[in-house]
Amino acid sequence: MITQMLATHSILVKIFLGFLVAGLFIPMVTAKNPLGFRKVSFIFTMTFQGIATMIAFTGLVAMVTGEMPLSLSIMIMIVLWALLMFVEIKKYRLIKMAKIENPETHRVLKGGFIRITVIQILLVAVMVVLMVLKAKGIVAI
Ligand code: HEM
Repeated sequence: MITQMLATHSILVKIFLGFLVAGLFIPMVTAKNPLGFRKVSFIFTMTFQGIATMIAFTGLVAMVTGEMPLSLSIMIMIVLWALLMFVEIKKYRLIKMAKIENPETHRVLKGGFIRITVIQILLVAVMVVLMVLKAKGIVAI
């Protein structure tokens, strides 16, 4: 049960990473269509939250059923998860409220979308590397 949950957790994190990388193309494919950008952004944010929720669920179930103590690595994961969610919701709010038909606003939001997605990718990748180093016994977190 715990092994299965952790394996699912681990696969979901990799799917999440792939999803984020794919998201980088959204501003490009909707470059000439601001309303399309807003619509696809909405679908992206919903999917983001769906995957993130599954990651938290599998992680929490593994932690509770495995009776794992709240280690530093788990704390980092929970804080990172909350941060990723917070930034994603803020980002979508901005895109939703903005006068996206304005070319300048559209341009700024496209740039912001890419920058935020790159930061999210880096954060998730760093977490994966940290957990690999932990598994190898190189770092103790
Ligand atoms: C509420 C959020 C989360 C909880 C409760 C949670 C919980 C856990 C637990 C209990 C483990 C096993 C730890 C160990 O073996 O010492 C684990 C492993 C891991 N978690 Fe999380 N996690 C959460 C979010 C995340 C997020 C957001 C990421 C990525 C950004 C992530 C990436 C990983 C990775 C890469 C592993 C190693 C998996 C493996 O063994 O292959 N976790 N998590």
